[in-house]
Amino acid sequence: MGAQVRTIVTRNSLDSWEALWAPYDETTYRDALAFIRPEDTVLDIGAGDLRFARRAAAVARRVYAVEIQPALLHHQPPLPPNLLVICADARQIPWPRDITVGVLLMRHCAHVGLYTRRLREIGCRRLVTNARWRMGVEEMLLEPRMPWSAVRIGWYACLCGAVGFVPGPPSAVTPAVMETITEVENCPACQPFPG
Ligand SMILES: C[S@@+](CC[C@H](N)C(=O)[O-])C[C@H]1O[C@@H](n2cnc3c(N)ncnc32)[C@H](O)[C@@H]1O
Repeated sequence: MGAQVRTIVTRNSLDSWEALWAPYDETTYRDALAFIRPEDTVLDIGAGDLRFARRAAAVARRVYAVEIQPALLHHQPPLPPNLLVICADARQIPWPRDITVGVLLMRHCAHVGLYTRRLREIGCRRLVTNARWRMGVEEMLLEPRMPWSAVRIGWYACLCGAVGFVPGPPSAVTPAVMETITEVENCPACQPFPG
């Protein structure tokens, strides 16, 4: 691969599930692509063999694809000019500051909170992911949310990737409560943000 691939060596090992390379089905890629806009600059975190990054590059202004396993980036056909591939640990490297949307297609990701906070820090307000519910693809909005402590009852989904249910008296568990998911931050599962 040519000048569009940068390799940055880091030492931290990954959780064994996170380190697994496995492609998703076409529905997952199609659903994720539906959130990508022509004016977007995309950060594809854990890009695998670039199959989504290439699709995104056909739609978006620019795509940065970060993948930790060099073997997945070997023997690639030529890259489109707006796709920059970085072989590195996405947790460790500085990120470009022009990113408008993150993509995290990694169902077993243990670092959703780190990625959402870093995206927020550089002013990015959207993350397209299947990591939180571990099922379909969603677009997480990264704007400030209500604190978890303000949820009285019902389902919540946190910026850190945790989801759960705040219990209450059975009489208060109405169908409306069961159908509502409150977007929160600072839930009990949140880890302190390093740096
Ligand atoms: C389940 S695969 C999905 C690949 C790709 N997102 C896709 O949907 O085709 C997850 C990929 O993320 C990579 N990965 C996990 N953690 C990473 C990290 N911290 N930095 C870079 N790549 C990572 C793994 O090496 C693996 O290739």
